[in-house]
Amino acid sequence: MKRSTQVRSRSEAVLSLVGHTPLVPLHFEAERLTIYAKCENLNPSGSIKDRFAKCVLLDAEQCGWLRPDSIIVECSSGNTGIALSMIGATLGYQVRILMSATASEERRKIIRQLGAELVLFDSGGQYQTGIEMSREMAANDARVFLPRQFENPINTEDHEHDTGQEILRQMPGPIDAFVTGFGTGGTLAGCGRAIKRRWPDARIIAMEPAEQALLAGEMPCCHFIEGVADGFIPSLLRDAPLDGNIKVKSAEAMAMTRRLHREFGLLVGTSSGANVIAALQLARDLGPRATVVTLLCDRAERYFSTQLFAGSKS
Ligand SMILES: Cc1ncc(COP(=O)(O)O)c(C=O)c1O
Repeated sequence: MKRSTQVRSRSEAVLSLVGHTPLVPLHFEAERLTIYAKCENLNPSGSIKDRFAKCVLLDAEQCGWLRPDSIIVECSSGNTGIALSMIGATLGYQVRILMSATASEERRKIIRQLGAELVLFDSGGQYQTGIEMSREMAANDARVFLPRQFENPINTEDHEHDTGQEILRQMPGPIDAFVTGFGTGGTLAGCGRAIKRRWPDARIIAMEPAEQALLAGEMPCCHFIEGVADGFIPSLLRDAPLDGNIKVKSAEAMAMTRRLHREFGLLVGTSSGANVIAALQLARDLGPRATVVTLLCDRAERYFSTQLFAGSKS
């Protein structure tokens, strides 16, 4: 069998697991509210970022930008790095992830376990340092391929044509509101565009950490909702048909995430709790019949060393 055929059949298993995630109603009895959550935590590497990793690498292969000796290089605080490491490994490419030295130990272990190279940089968590490092690597080595999650329009297009369409197929009636946080802005812009086109009255809302509500024009400060709000408004968000934003405090996001673990049995990360708080607020504001959709973005296991698990008894 030719190498490319071997690699293709090997990668089929994991590629087939990306996306097609369930959308489930969450009934909050005490609040007498129901919201709808798309379970992106069920993607094979545990987050919504598997979608970007799959589409950007398959597109690069199709365009002839990836060769057997290519090195996929991306700066990521976690989920994208893990997703690219997983998809890159199964497609047979070398992957190099640039990550802030402040990133949690479990993320580093997963990336290394998937066979990727990890380059830690010291920058007080600033993304720009890693992005500049990746550009420098590409300038000095022709084998380097940059997925560029923060600028690549494929990021938004994939959510518009895949994630957004899945939501529209899974929700039988009109959608009154869609709310989620943003890192690159690809999910919010892409799903927002798909939903707005089908249901023009739907409200497309950005969830923001209250401690760093950039869309609200408030000063950046530290927050604990990992995976969202990296300290700047990403360019992909310019294409989002936004109707407003909802601010969620980190402590409240963690409390809701623990509720999702203990009351609903959904082991998700902190941004999922934050999204659910914002969705409940919309459901309350729009009335009991409103259909409000949000996302559970990733799994809890990558937060063992964070405050989310600080109160857990061993
Ligand atoms: C953990 C996590 N990963 C990824 C995303 C989506 O980010 P992006 O804006 O890059 O599509 C979110 C958004 O809420 C998130 O919470």
